[in-house]
Amino acid sequence: MDTLFTGRHLIRLEAVASTNTFLQEYLKANTLPEGAVVISDQQFDGRGQRGNTWESETGKNLTFSLLWKPVFLPINFQFDLNRITALALAETLRFFMPDEKVCIKWPNDMLVNEKKIGGVLIENSLRDSQIQHSIVGIGLNVNQEAFRLSARATSFIAVTGEEMEREPVMEKMFEYLEAWYLQARSGNLEEIRKRFDAELFGLNSRLLFSIGGREQEALVCGTTPEGKLKLEVNGKMQEFDLQAVKWLW
Ligand code: BTN
Repeated sequence: MDTLFTGRHLIRLEAVASTNTFLQEYLKANTLPEGAVVISDQQFDGRGQRGNTWESETGKNLTFSLLWKPVFLPINFQFDLNRITALALAETLRFFMPDEKVCIKWPNDMLVNEKKIGGVLIENSLRDSQIQHSIVGIGLNVNQEAFRLSARATSFIAVTGEEMEREPVMEKMFEYLEAWYLQARSGNLEEIRKRFDAELFGLNSRLLFSIGGREQEALVCGTTPEGKLKLEVNGKMQEFDLQAVKWLW
């Protein structure tokens, strides 16, 4: 594996409620180096965005949490961590499935051919206007063929028809995550934001959203530096956070 620090300290578990929760608890009593990873074959209470559960069949997929210590990043730019994670996942997906259509559905659902193959749940711990640490939870569907909870879920095997070894996918992901993290650390945030917007699902198209509980069509225009979604609604540019807007596929 070609990384300096990502995944070099690896805690492997057979089963856990949630790797994010485990890492959070672990850090209360222990210190870990940046780049440490907790990975588990099974999560019995995997957590997703908006309080959803993350469904993942035991031993089939990748579910892990990575520790970053991005003290260099002002807290109002926390979303750049979501950006670099999503960009690293997009590159990983393209590396293994170069002919498929990969994109990022804001804030950071990973789509292949417009179906969700992976998700990201980042939990930051803030202190004195700094991000003390960041727990980057990643779920990527690899060899799971059927999904109970979502008709719009997919996996590597569902896309390619072939079973895939999980370890090389994990290692490639670590390499891209580290490369993007180093980009952020060296301050290339403008470039990161541009790249992220360019990968957005629905960019420059009119799509249906639920805004304040009302179904409305809006033009997807990109994201603000802080990570809000920019939509043109009824001819007016508006910015939305995760609570204020919902995609209606
Ligand atoms: C989403 O799309 O809703 C985010 C899903 C994030 C799932 C990952 S799996 C590893 C880590 N541990 C969790 O409990 N959740 C994240």
